[in-house]
This record gives sequence, structure tokens and C-alpha cells, in this order.
Amino acid sequence: MTEKRSIEHGRRTGFATLQRGGLNFDSLPMRLFSKGNARHWNPADIDFTQDARDIAEMTEHERWWTCSLATQFMAGEESVTQDLQPFVAAMAAEGRIADEMYLTQFVFEEARHTEAFRRWFDAVGLTEDLHSYIETNPHYMEIFTRQLPDSLYALAADPSPRNQIRASVTYNHIVEGTLALTGYFTWAKVCSSRGILPGMQQVIKLIGDDERRHMAWGTFTCRRHVAADDSLWDVVDERMQELLVPAMGVVTHTFEEFEGEEPPFSVDLDELAEYAMDKVGRRLGAIESARGADVRSIDVDASPEQLEERFHAEDLALLPVPVA
Ligand SMILES: [Fe+2]
Ligand SMILES: [Fe+2]
Repeated sequence: MTEKRSIEHGRRTGFATLQRGGLNFDSLPMRLFSKGNARHWNPADIDFTQDARDIAEMTEHERWWTCSLATQFMAGEESVTQDLQPFVAAMAAEGRIADEMYLTQFVFEEARHTEAFRRWFDAVGLTEDLHSYIETNPHYMEIFTRQLPDSLYALAADPSPRNQIRASVTYNHIVEGTLALTGYFTWAKVCSSRGILPGMQQVIKLIGDDERRHMAWGTFTCRRHVAADDSLWDVVDERMQELLVPAMGVVTHTFEEFEGEEPPFSVDLDELAEYAMDKVGRRLGAIESARGADVRSIDVDASPEQLEERFHAEDLALLPVPVA
């Protein structure tokens, strides 16, 4: 008889990779990990010289809008780099080495996104203090300085399935799936308005590719908990309801700064909201479809990955500059 071994941080009595079967390369987290390994990119390779010229030629209005959007992304990427770390430890506590491995790549990718945005700011000459762009948006501050860190660091004390769902809904479905997604849509509008910011177009395209894997992992994680305990579906729904209003507030507040004036680059709030809500609804549908499913089948079920690929194909057909 094999004794029960622990691979939890600081309590190791064995090694997951030495067990019979080792790593399951067909499991969703290992597939995402391999995919990410095959798609490395380097922010330092991206040329931002045309972006600097484009920024210099913008009107005051346009520059404010572009800078505001980029600042939200910059602070967002830094936040998600930091705040994912308790989830890595939560996977170790649960003995899920494949998820732990995937999340180390996930954290690295967020760090890479942070680097890419900062390089862009430096290259286009926006080097002054940028806090005012986000600090005037109370919804942004609520999500990034309270809701996101609170729900993720709750895992450090209690990595229960309930807390994992609250953390994943906040991180993957609200911050990535709603805020970042509407951000990509807006970048597409800005860049396509007159074919500007080619470096940023490249950054957004590469980040979008990483983000599809991140969101697939979030959907997968919620699915496996909901399949194991049906009562956890209510936790998904409850956390979503708690955060949808402040999340949409982040977006609408930027428009409110224009007080009745037309926002630049023909960005349309209703179009943006409709785009985000459609994706959120369909990801929630994917989680709900796991209710009553056999937990063992969830690990190798590729549907969260396929859903993101479908969104990508739709974006390529819909967006004027296909960024995601
Ligand atoms: Fe990111
Ligand atoms: Fe991400």
C-alpha cells in the first residue's frame, strides 16, 4: 500500500512527479503550460518609435484618453503580477502540481505584460507620475486596491474551494474577463482610428494570446469546484453580482470625465458594455455546464480553452484591428 504523501510547501514528504503516472500532460493546466512554453515573446523586441510620433501628434483630448487607458493597464498588470501569488501556494496546499506549474508561468506572463507597458510609456516619453489617471476613478481603486488583493490574499489563510472561486471570479472573470477585455476593445478602436500605435497593437495582440490561457484556467478552476460541490455555483453567482457594478463603473467613469463631450476615437460605451457582457455571460455558462459533471472528466475537458479560441475567432471577424 502506498502511503499518502504531501507536496505542500514546507510539508513535503514526497514528490508529485515521482508518483505512478507522473504528470498528466492531457490535463488542462499542463496543456496550457505547454502552449505557453511554445509561445514565448520578448517585450524588449518591440519597436515603439512610431508610437512616440503618434502620441506627439495627438490632440490634448486623444492623448489624455490614450494615457488614461494605458495607465489603467499598467497598474492592472502590476497588480495581477503580485496578487496571483497566493493562488500558486493554494494549489500546492491542494496537491495540484500541474496547476502550480501553470500558475508559475501565469505569474511570469503578468510580469512580462508589466514590462511591456512600462517600456511603452518610457519609449513614448510619458515618464511623469501617472497616479492621477487612476486615483480619480474610485471604482478602479476599489477593484485594484481592495477587492482583488483581499480576495486573493484570503487564500493565504484559507485556500478553501469557496475562497478559490471568489478569487478566480475576481481575478479571471472580472479583472481579466471584463476589464482587460473592454480595454482591448478600446485599444482596437484607438489604433484603427487612423492606423496608429503599431507597437502597442503588437503588445495587445501578444498579451491577448497569453490572456486567453489565463481566462481558460479561471473557467476551468471554477468548473472543477462546481462539479465537486454543486452549492458552490451560488458562490460564483454571488461574487459576480458583487463585482459587476464596480467593474462597469471603472469603464463608465472614464466616459464621465468627458461630461457630454464626444469621446475621441469613436469609442462607444454601449458597444463596449455589450461586448464585455456577452463574453462574461458565455464564460459563466461554461462554468454552469460543469454542475453535476464527473469531477474526473473536468481535468481533461478542453471546453474552457475552446471557448477562448472561439472568442478569438469572433474578435478577428469583428474588431477593426484584430488585437486579441
Ligand atoms: Fe496581463
Ligand atoms: Fe492575465
